[in-house]
Amino acid sequence: MKTLIEPFKIKSIEEIPITTREQRERYLANAFYNPFFLRSEYVTIDLLTDSGTTALSSKQWAGLMDGDEAYAGSRSYYKFEDAVKEITGLKHIIPTHQGRAAEKILFTIAAKPGIVIPSNSHFDTTRGNIEYAGAEAIDNLVDVGSKPEVEAPFKGNMDLEKLRKLILEKGRENIPLCMLTVTNNTSGGQPVSMQNIRETKALCKEFGIPLFLDACRFAENAYFIKKREPGYENKSIKEIAQEMFSYCDGATMSAKKDGLSNTGGFLALNDDAMAEQAKVLLIITEGFLTYGGMTRRDLEALAQGFEEVLNENYLEYRIGQVKYLGDKLLEAGVPILQPTGGHAVYLDAKRFAPHIAPENFPGQSVLCELYLISGVRAVEIGSLMFGKADTNGNSQSPEMELVRLAIPRRVYTKSHIDYIAEACIETYNNREKLRGMEITHEVEYLRHFTAKLKFI
Ligand code: F0G
Repeated sequence: MKTLIEPFKIKSIEEIPITTREQRERYLANAFYNPFFLRSEYVTIDLLTDSGTTALSSKQWAGLMDGDEAYAGSRSYYKFEDAVKEITGLKHIIPTHQGRAAEKILFTIAAKPGIVIPSNSHFDTTRGNIEYAGAEAIDNLVDVGSKPEVEAPFKGNMDLEKLRKLILEKGRENIPLCMLTVTNNTSGGQPVSMQNIRETKALCKEFGIPLFLDACRFAENAYFIKKREPGYENKSIKEIAQEMFSYCDGATMSAKKDGLSNTGGFLALNDDAMAEQAKVLLIITEGFLTYGGMTRRDLEALAQGFEEVLNENYLEYRIGQVKYLGDKLLEAGVPILQPTGGHAVYLDAKRFAPHIAPENFPGQSVLCELYLISGVRAVEIGSLMFGKADTNGNSQSPEMELVRLAIPRRVYTKSHIDYIAEACIETYNNREKLRGMEITHEVEYLRHFTAKLKFI
């Protein structure tokens, strides 16, 4: 059979809001043209993020009832710890309420002024935590990774030449660790190959630098390795994931993605001394060692989620659903980042609205129109998220201007995806009417979350 079906049936449903264009114009203006300020009750299909928006399975709901809410030594914690250790092989598992809490602990220990943290591409909160500690976050993405129109199998890879140059230039003593984000969210949900993980590890080892995975979407990355990298076609997703983690000395994870849950995360470490420091910070900022910032029933849902995410039928549907949307858009001539990634389709706003300069936020303009047309909410990954003023006050933009349509896991059906495609195509057909935007209010760190904007 050729039809890709959802490998589950629906047991509980939630009504979605249907609104008129007139209403949406009012809602968007009241939200200062920033989708983060929109109430979800005004959103028909929510593609803001794939984080914590997963639908739970019936087994996870059963686990929630079965959670052992003990403060210390909870049975639910040990289930969670076993599941994480089974996949990562890492020694100390430090539970946090989400990914950025793990980052905050890690970079409180490892980062300060003068320190440099390299990555293939840092996610915004990772960059935020590093910069907040006074250190520098530097991306070393392969060149092909920032060319949306070029097809390549592993566009999330680390550029090893850039990384070597950076280490030599900044000095090994100023680089306490190196990160590798799988899949690479900011470069389009693109995977990192096993060969690249192995070679990044070898390079780090040469200089004695520990390698950390930002592992939010490790299972999606493992699936791409299985499908695209010779030698892995007959391995299970679990075996591939285990090999990925075997090259690492530590990991941060937002389990709100491939933990198939609504909250959660962890910091995993092999180094005993670092773990000791991290555990002190955990108790000060998150909670006790056997729950971090989570309820124990969350740990149950996660332990079950880590099992379900390794299921190949699930991943085939998951990655297939994203590709189905991407293919529909390509067929209609809508410019997207190619190939489609693991968790989202990214509209290429530079080609979508070439008449809007990067400093006038073409991506934000596209997503505002998409919302007005359809009630679909997306997020900008471009000048609003990563742009900055340089020392002369001139605005500096990242290489790509993207609009991310992140697909929540197990939530939307094929007809929802058809609706999203129709909305994007309609927006594209109206592209000449799109106008540039400017910021009326912003803060210093992670400005996209709370910026207020208006049309020029
Ligand atoms: N690292 C990556 C690669 C991420 O995508 C995220 C979150 C984090 C770290 C932080 O995790 O949200 O649990 O604190 N990404 C979400 C997104 C928010 O929409 O892409 P968190």
